[in-house]
Amino acid sequence: MSVSRSQCKSTPKKSCTKTPKASVAPSRPRVAPHIAVLPKSGIRDFFDLVSTMKEVISLGIGEPDFTAPWKIREAVIYSLQRGFTHYTSNLGDIKLRRSICRYFEERFGGKYSPETECIVTVGVSEGLDLAARALLEPGDEVLYHEPCYVSYNPTIRMAHGVPVPVLTTAKHDFVVQVEDLEKAVTPKTKLLMLNYPNNPTGAGMTWEDKKKVAEFAIKHDLLVLSDEIYDELSYIPRSPSIATIPGMRERTIVFNGFSKAFAMTGFRIAYAVGPHDLIDAMMKIHQYTMLCAPGLSQFGAIEALDNSADEREAMREEYEQRRNVIVKGFNDLGLKCFMPRGAFYVFPCIKSTGMTSIEFATKLLQEEHVAVIPGSAFGESGEGFVRCAYATAMDEIQEALVRIRKFLVKHKLLK
Ligand SMILES: Cc1ncc(COP(=O)(O)O)c(C=O)c1O
Repeated sequence: MSVSRSQCKSTPKKSCTKTPKASVAPSRPRVAPHIAVLPKSGIRDFFDLVSTMKEVISLGIGEPDFTAPWKIREAVIYSLQRGFTHYTSNLGDIKLRRSICRYFEERFGGKYSPETECIVTVGVSEGLDLAARALLEPGDEVLYHEPCYVSYNPTIRMAHGVPVPVLTTAKHDFVVQVEDLEKAVTPKTKLLMLNYPNNPTGAGMTWEDKKKVAEFAIKHDLLVLSDEIYDELSYIPRSPSIATIPGMRERTIVFNGFSKAFAMTGFRIAYAVGPHDLIDAMMKIHQYTMLCAPGLSQFGAIEALDNSADEREAMREEYEQRRNVIVKGFNDLGLKCFMPRGAFYVFPCIKSTGMTSIEFATKLLQEEHVAVIPGSAFGESGEGFVRCAYATAMDEIQEALVRIRKFLVKHKLLK
């Protein structure tokens, strides 16, 4: 019996709906296997728990407690009032790229062309992803030091690269050692990722350290991704970027941004500078995926670079004071704490408590309402440590130390 269209509407199940044949083999995974195996960030899991609790002092999130300086916000408001609500050039507004290259030369030492060697990105996060996707072929190995920022390993894997962590230790102030890099390098190694000053340890590289690593990169003909997002938050005399060492400019992409030093995390804006062929390859992906970084944020970024040095320095000084208080506090409590050279993190050792870093962080949160991040979230070598961000007001830091003391006393770890 044939079925008319009107009948079909009223009796769809019986007469019209044929079970469609599966167009894909049932065994084919819906999610790409290399994404399915990625773990979710340990930090986010922990903060889901924190968000359900009251009166928590958070030393957890790596985000400035300062609001972006008023003049930066005003520049954005003014650009909005003038109706600048459009796409910019894919590479970023040329005025901003000029400001970046001028600033970079002044502060970090390298000279780059705003026209061809600089790209404005949606955070350093996007910049690193672009670089990994632009440079890696499946199976290429990437060396990076660990403990490290939680995104490095997934960023490499999402680009079909093979992450090769090189462990760093408190013995060497968490600075990566060339002997360890030498043990890990193979003919398949293509990239070396560096992040100093470091998240989560606060470690920093001296000029001598940079020269040794540069020599290694040149010897093995590696490309280097140098994430210098915390460089403005240094508490030792800053040295120029590793990219300025002879033989390094042509093989290095430097990433920096506004999130940390200018307290502009929500603006989602950063930049990368490097040799034209590499920036151009990153730009191809950026133009098809992002088009450009947020236009309004670009106006704020120009104001940050051109006119906000005093505000940036005031924040850095405040972090330095907090660092001194928190490092002394942990050491006085018997939790040995390395003196960070930069960023806004301390990485005290909790091995003496006999707890794993997850146990320590979970119990501290539940019992004393202080949130710290288990070191294991930053890689295996972070076990035995916790990360505490001092991007938190001084009185909160002091109160957190009081609560940690109470916690240790309660567990008979301190008298
Ligand atoms: C080492 C490091 N790189 C990059 C980022 C991401 O920065 P952005 O906000 O510019 O994406 C972070 C954020 O915590 C970080 O710690």
